[in-house]
Amino acid sequence: INKIGVMTSGGDSPGMNAAIRSVVRTCAFHEIECIGIYRGYQGLIEGDFKEMNARSVNNIINKGGTILKSARSQEFRTKEGRESAFAKAREKGLDALVVIGGDGSFTGAMIFSQEFDIPVMGIPGTIDNDIFGTSATLGYDTALNTVVEAIDKIRDTASSHNRLFFVEVMGRDVGHIALNAGVGAGAEEILIPEEDLGKDRLLESLKRSRQSGKSSSIVVVAEGDQTGENVFELKDYVEANLPEYEVRVSVLGHMQRGGSPSCADRVLASRMGVKAVESLLEGKTNYMVGIKDTQMVLCPIDKAVKGKTDIDLELIRVSDIMTT
Ligand code: F6P
Repeated sequence: INKIGVMTSGGDSPGMNAAIRSVVRTCAFHEIECIGIYRGYQGLIEGDFKEMNARSVNNIINKGGTILKSARSQEFRTKEGRESAFAKAREKGLDALVVIGGDGSFTGAMIFSQEFDIPVMGIPGTIDNDIFGTSATLGYDTALNTVVEAIDKIRDTASSHNRLFFVEVMGRDVGHIALNAGVGAGAEEILIPEEDLGKDRLLESLKRSRQSGKSSSIVVVAEGDQTGENVFELKDYVEANLPEYEVRVSVLGHMQRGGSPSCADRVLASRMGVKAVESLLEGKTNYMVGIKDTQMVLCPIDKAVKGKTDIDLELIRVSDIMTT
């Protein structure tokens, strides 16, 4: 392998730049060429490339977003799109690809590698932490800190006005952000898709909380949770059934994806980039780099895509005890 292409694909996440930096510098260290591919697979199809060297990635370790930009390419889902992408990769002399992204991006990498026999290595970059084969994805830790900081601020105003706040957080179909940030921010209740408490249980819990002397509350709701139709419907339901509560909703949205990466994400990104490039150089392909018990590991990319991540049951229990 003499030339590796690197791209970021799917929803961006803090730490992607630190991972690009690591891939580029590891290539430089091993004296092989590195090509940045802009806008994920769409940029590959269009041949939107940039030669990168160790100096191209100065001063980006601390930056949110991705200097290579990101996209969710519809065209790459088609056989014709992938053929064009392979033609451009060939023309540029790319011997292998490092794809920094989530499960959609890895599915694309897997199919591309099978169809055209090009070595690929995935680096999990998503705030959702919904990838099997790694205990943390890039951007997850930063997003947790962002959410906790936001909820701390909401708590100030909730407490001043004796209000109940529903705070909706991202996470797509999983509740990792909600559960961990909820415990970290001291939420009264945490609603996640993996555990259906039902609306009655929510009312009971809120009633108990009032009776126990609490005047304000924070309920963290994962965007994928199904307790209500949506977070605004939950607000209406609680107000209709517990008139003593004045309820507000705060949907945190895309601010959760931005910001300077935490130290943990920067270190993880640096380690993952080295592992990804060196694994390709060892002849490995079709893997995703992950972290397990502080060690870097490789997970077959098909397992990373298909496997489910488990929610931490012990943490649910801790959360229940904390709301006493
Ligand atoms: O996967 C990251 C994520 O931010 C999810 O948490 C969220 O559901 C989704 O992306 C939002 O996607 P978009 O940026 O396309 O609106």
